[in-house]
Amino acid sequence: MDTSARVLVTYATVAGSTTGIAERIAATLRASGAEVACRPAAPDLDLDPFDAFVVGSAVHDMAWLAPALDLLPRLQETGRPVWCFSVGGIQPRGRIARTMTDRELRRVARSFPPALALRGERMFGGIIDLEHTPLWGRLFFRAMGGRAGDHRDWASVEAWAEEIAAALPRHRDDAQRRQARTSTSPAAGTSPASTATASSPAASGSVPSRSDSPGR
Ligand SMILES: Cc1cc2nc3c(=O)[nH]c(=O)nc-3n(C[C@H](O)[C@H](O)[C@H](O)COP(=O)(O)O)c2cc1C
Repeated sequence: MDTSARVLVTYATVAGSTTGIAERIAATLRASGAEVACRPAAPDLDLDPFDAFVVGSAVHDMAWLAPALDLLPRLQETGRPVWCFSVGGIQPRGRIARTMTDRELRRVARSFPPALALRGERMFGGIIDLEHTPLWGRLFFRAMGGRAGDHRDWASVEAWAEEIAAALPRHRDDAQRRQARTSTSPAAGTSPASTATASSPAASGSVPSRSDSPGR
């Protein structure tokens, strides 16, 4: 029986730098043996086939974008493990930058569902394009030590994805989910994780085959 975890990596972006990070996380998880789908966050995403979720968003004005934010209550309801990543203008490298990104992460998390128990959370640098930023904004950003350009740190992204890979649950097939429902307490049986009617991801085509080329 195939017990490798089925993981959904989902993300919200405006300009595309978050997509690249999501695809790199997906590729790293895939290389570790997980079955992974990588999709933009959307209200009609079918969460049933997946054993775990990695959700990320670009940060705009200290907050996540709506498509990823709106998905969080649904992810919480599954009762399955969730990891989050944020993509912002600051590369969390060095003491000062790390203090700023930690503060920003706390601010971002204020709009998450209070009961959402995350298995892990990270902030990554994205792409800073100052072309359309007014002069005062560019000067302020520079004074804070910011620089335009692609700040994505692929080694950090891959290292975090490897941490996730090491903590993934095993895949529970339909029969195991049914068995868990009948043999556990009523409380456990009502949890969304154990009652999920799972159309097989492979059959529904929602999880790409492991031979899919990584999104690099
Ligand atoms: C309108 C706007 C607001 C932004 N606000 C923030 C912010 O509050 N904090 C931050 O760290 N980065 C901020 N950024 C930088 C973006 O998060 C960064 O460019 C990121 O790479 C964008 O991701 P995307 O390419 O996936 O859209 C902002 C960028 C824009 C264009």
